[in-house]
Amino acid sequence: EAETDRLWSQVKPLYDGLHCYARGKLQSEYGKELVPDGKPVPAHLFGNMWAQQWNNIYDLLEPYSGVSNLDVTAELKKQGYDAKRMTESAELFYVSLGFPELPDSFWERSMLTRPRDREVDCYASAWNIDGKGDVRIKQCIQTTEEDLYTVYHELGHIYYNLSYVDQPYLFQGGAHDGFHEAIGDTINLSMTEGYLASVGLLPKGMKSSREALINRQMKVASEKIAFLPFGKLVDQWRWGVFSGAIPPEKYNEAWWELRRKYQGVEAQIARSEADFDPGAKYHVPGNTPYTRYFLSFVLQFQFHRALCEAAGFTGPLHECSIYGNEEAGRRFREMLAQGVSQPWQDALEKLTGTRQM
Ligand code: ASP
Ligand code: SER
Ligand code: ZN
Repeated sequence: EAETDRLWSQVKPLYDGLHCYARGKLQSEYGKELVPDGKPVPAHLFGNMWAQQWNNIYDLLEPYSGVSNLDVTAELKKQGYDAKRMTESAELFYVSLGFPELPDSFWERSMLTRPRDREVDCYASAWNIDGKGDVRIKQCIQTTEEDLYTVYHELGHIYYNLSYVDQPYLFQGGAHDGFHEAIGDTINLSMTEGYLASVGLLPKGMKSSREALINRQMKVASEKIAFLPFGKLVDQWRWGVFSGAIPPEKYNEAWWELRRKYQGVEAQIARSEADFDPGAKYHVPGNTPYTRYFLSFVLQFQFHRALCEAAGFTGPLHECSIYGNEEAGRRFREMLAQGVSQPWQDALEKLTGTRQM
């Protein structure tokens, strides 16, 4: 708890700035009545069920409207990308770093599209079935940029699983939970204009200019900075439930208190204890820890910087892609192969030179 508080206090100013900016933009769209000055923002305006990432309202947040096209979706559609090809595109990135091709069993046993004959939970996830190489993902992949990023994310788990397959069973795991979540996201940070161009996915009308760059960084902020308070508060709520500090008759009230306090968002209609809003977040009924995402959203930038240095990249970090870089690949693979056999501080130090997140 102390560690997440320490990290939150460092990144909070970034969030506060972004939140203020977003409220201003939402206010011009919907008016002062609905989005008043200095008050929490109605959560449903952010284009995401949990207001956890704001990329779906990028068109509202865009600082320089129309100067560049950042949307990969149209390109994917035009080129007829389906679920399999999007997964292969992710695989190719990992292969370019020296990781192996995915085993046949992955392709036979994964669920990449929504089945027509039954109800399934479509929320994307990665599964290590036996610790011996039977790895699978479950995702209902649609031809969108968001799903493209997510499949790269899921393969991060799969390649971690495959990398530590020779470790004793107890050492098969992420150095800490945040590492596991950060692998694929680190790759996501390398999906730059340069990378997209080299795989033929550069959106038509993408420009390079100072304004285009600010736009792109706003888009990254809408995913990465917007997420931080939500990443923190889910387990803050859950730890409160487990310790008894949040009693059953306050489950929903405490949830919205945290949402207000950290995210600065509010329910637009009255909630009561007859509602159980935390239950609408996959990871809560699914019993997936959540602090891992908060930690990952800090760590992935440390990984990205270290790997770019390993690749000998000297330009601005937002232009760096480690795609196809042998040395970055070697360093990354080395860390993944260790699993949880070393303290995470050692793993972090070996890759980044620091023991602190
Ligand atoms: N597995 C991802 C998340 O870690 C799914 C997603 O981003 O859709 O929960
Ligand atoms: N995949 C995680 C979630 O959707 C973090 O983005 O909650
Ligand atoms: Zn994940």
